[in-house]
Amino acid sequence: MRKLVLGLAALSAVACVTSTPAPQETPEAKSARMEWFSQAKLGIFIHWGIYSRGDWSESWAFHNGTVSMEDYFAQEADFTASAYDPAEWVRLIRESGARYTVITSKHHDGFALWDTRAGDVSAVKSSAAGRDVLTPFVDEVRRQGGLKLGLYYSLIDWPREDYPNVFRAGPARYDIHKEPDRWQHFLTFNSAQLKELQENYNPDLFWFDGDWEFSSEDWDAPGIVQQLRSHNPQVIVNSRIAGNGDYDTPELGVPVTRPASPWWETCMTINDSWGFRKRDTDFKSIDTILRMLVDCMSMGGNLLLDIGPRADGTIPEEEVAILKELGQWTSIHAEAVYPTRAGIPAGHVQAYTTLNAAGDVLYLYFPYAPNESLEIKGLKSKILRVRVVGTDQELSWKQYNDIDWSATPGVYYIQVPSQVLDPHMTVLAVELNGPATLYEGAGQVISFNE
Ligand code: GLC
Repeated sequence: MRKLVLGLAALSAVACVTSTPAPQETPEAKSARMEWFSQAKLGIFIHWGIYSRGDWSESWAFHNGTVSMEDYFAQEADFTASAYDPAEWVRLIRESGARYTVITSKHHDGFALWDTRAGDVSAVKSSAAGRDVLTPFVDEVRRQGGLKLGLYYSLIDWPREDYPNVFRAGPARYDIHKEPDRWQHFLTFNSAQLKELQENYNPDLFWFDGDWEFSSEDWDAPGIVQQLRSHNPQVIVNSRIAGNGDYDTPELGVPVTRPASPWWETCMTINDSWGFRKRDTDFKSIDTILRMLVDCMSMGGNLLLDIGPRADGTIPEEEVAILKELGQWTSIHAEAVYPTRAGIPAGHVQAYTTLNAAGDVLYLYFPYAPNESLEIKGLKSKILRVRVVGTDQELSWKQYNDIDWSATPGVYYIQVPSQVLDPHMTVLAVELNGPATLYEGAGQVISFNE
C-alpha cells in the first residue's frame, strides 16, 4: 500500500478550489454541444489497469476485502503493456462502427495510465510498463480520426491517505467535515490530475465515476465542471458528477421506458466484467449486443460497450471478434444507425424503431423472421416505399381497413420474404409521405349508426 505523507507545509501551499456559478447555457446551445453525442450511437469503453492481470475485479477487490491492498498492488509488477499496440486498438474500435471511445485514465485504485505529476501511482512510476500508456492511445485516436475521445476518471481514490474511505467494511480514515484541510488536500490533488488530463489531451468527454461517496458540495462538483468548461466550453460530462453532468448514464441495464433526459447512454460489459478476468468467458453474443444497441437507439440513447484488454495490452480474441462483427453490421446498416433519432412508441409494431432526422423514414429493426408479414398499426402517414437497408431490395405491403369514417388508420402489413433477412438484425426503411404521424387512441367505438 502506498502512503501519502501530508506535511503541514504542503497543506498550506495548497490552492483553494472554489466554485462560482457557471454561466447559463441556452437549450439550443446545449443541443449543439451534445450533437455529436446524440449521433454517435455506439461507443467503446476500455477498462485497463493493474487489475487487467485478470485475477480480481478492478479496485473493488481490495475495497471489498477479497484481497489485501498489498496483494492487489503487487499486480503493478505484471502490468507490462509489452504487446500493447494502440494503433491496432484504435483500428478495431473504428472498425466496430463506434464514434467515440472512453478509456479509464484512473480507476478507484488511483493507478493512472498517464505520467501524472500529481502523484506516484502510475504506469510510468509504479508499474512494470514504466511508461505512459495513455498518450499513445490518445495520439492514435487523433491520428486515425472519426472518434471522439472520452476519459474515464474516478473521483474516488481509495488508497490515498487523504481520501477518507478505504475498505467497504472498515471505518473511515477521517471525517471530511472535521478535517477540512485534509479533504481539501485531496480535492486539490484531483483537480491537479484533471488539469493535466485537460491540458495534455483536451478530451471531448469526461466520464466521471464514484460520485456516490460524497455530495455535490463535498466534491465541489460544480467547481470541477466549471474548471473543465473554462478550458473547453464544448466538453461533455457524464452524469456521475453528483447531478452536475450533461447526460444520464444507466449501467448494465437497458431502460424499459425512455429516460427523461434527451441524452443518455447505457454502459455495458461485453461479458460479466469491466476489466479483463481470466475466468470470465461469459461473452455476450453479437445478436445480444445488437439488440441492446438498437434498443438504446430506439429510445434516443447510445450504447457504451466495454472491452477489457489484458495487462500486456492484448485484447481477448472473443472481444476482437465481437467488435469486428459489430462493424460488419454497422457498416452495412450505417444509414439506419448514425443519423437516426428515437423511434415511435412500442405497440405500433413488433420491432425496434428509429426515425431519420426529417421524421419521414421509419426504420424497423427485428432480430427474427416474421411469419409472412410485419404489421404496423396506428400509422396515419402513407407508406410510399419499403426498402431492405443494406440491399437494393424493395418489399411490397398492403393496408387493410383504412376506413374514411374511422379515426383509426388502416393496418399495414409488410411482406417479409425469408431471403431478405439479415443473419443478425434485419432493418427496413419505411419511407413515408411526410413526417410520421400516429394514431395513439383506444380505437373507434361506434355510438350511432344509420
Ligand atoms: C461502476 C464501478 C466500476 C466500473 C464502472 C463502469 O461504477 O464502480 O468498477 O468501472 O461502474 O461504469
